[in-house]
Amino acid sequence: MGGTALDIRPINAPLGAEIVGVDLTRVDNELFAEVRQAWLDHLVLVFREQKLTDNQQMEFSRRFGQLDEVPIVSVGQKPRDNKYISVVSNVIENGVPIGGLGDDEVFWHSDTSYREYPPSASVLYCLKVPNWGGDTGFSNMYLALETMAPALRRRIEGLTVKNDTTYTAGGQLRAGFQPINDLRKSPGAIHPIIRTHPETGRHALYLGRRLNSYLPGLEIEESERLLDELWAHATQSSLAWHHKWQVGDVVIWDNRCTMHRRDNFDPHSYRIMHRAQAQEPTRPYYDLTKPAEPHARGRAWARSQSLGLPLIGP
Ligand code: SIN
Repeated sequence: MGGTALDIRPINAPLGAEIVGVDLTRVDNELFAEVRQAWLDHLVLVFREQKLTDNQQMEFSRRFGQLDEVPIVSVGQKPRDNKYISVVSNVIENGVPIGGLGDDEVFWHSDTSYREYPPSASVLYCLKVPNWGGDTGFSNMYLALETMAPALRRRIEGLTVKNDTTYTAGGQLRAGFQPINDLRKSPGAIHPIIRTHPETGRHALYLGRRLNSYLPGLEIEESERLLDELWAHATQSSLAWHHKWQVGDVVIWDNRCTMHRRDNFDPHSYRIMHRAQAQEPTRPYYDLTKPAEPHARGRAWARSQSLGLPLIGP
């Protein structure tokens, strides 16, 4: 498809676009540059009717950056066959789940935020859909920050957040971890709660995950109150869109400026997804020298504006 402009169909939502007519097994450098720009502009991309082996999924995902090891499995789950492909599924073989996250709701999160170097891109490929449910929601964390009440924004300037490793985003205990009863002692990386996107220069709210998260330096009660307020704001439906899966869909999201979740689904049917993720070479950081003026925030800003979302500065 060299030299041809990408067919980008923005979804009528605060983020997301469908890319039409691309076979992900045949992406050259020129085409990938357009895909990457579309991903930076729209935050989440959907490609339909793909047919990928694990190696082809890894090959494509590697274009976003070095492949990253997938999340730590939960207790009782089959160990990974491939450290770069995470199976997300409710299928049980010989009494052992072949993948993670079961059939329950998966709560809002940004992938592996408990690591010092969380990933940039996640690439999720759908191999089997359940009878009902299992839609995946995405939420725009640039807009979460930009629409935040000024007083709340002022309270979080300069704060960090600890992202707990103990549990998966579905609430399952990870293999090798013990339940904790003191939030201040849970293992996990500490990141700035506002982060600067290393490619677009825009600032985004970076909450990671709610379960066991903690704002270092605050009393636990104060941390819980502030986190509850932030999460109530960040998970508003006006910032989100949910994808309804078909077999063959590939969805790619940017963990640096989005969160995602999943609906529960029919436990009497199967859902199978394979996920790869690409490393972000820099740790999350907050660069106050980046311009905050709307015109300097790149093309994605125009998208927020065209959607008429309320934008309130600090
Ligand atoms: C995930 O959180 O990576 C899984 C999302 C899904 O199962 O749709």
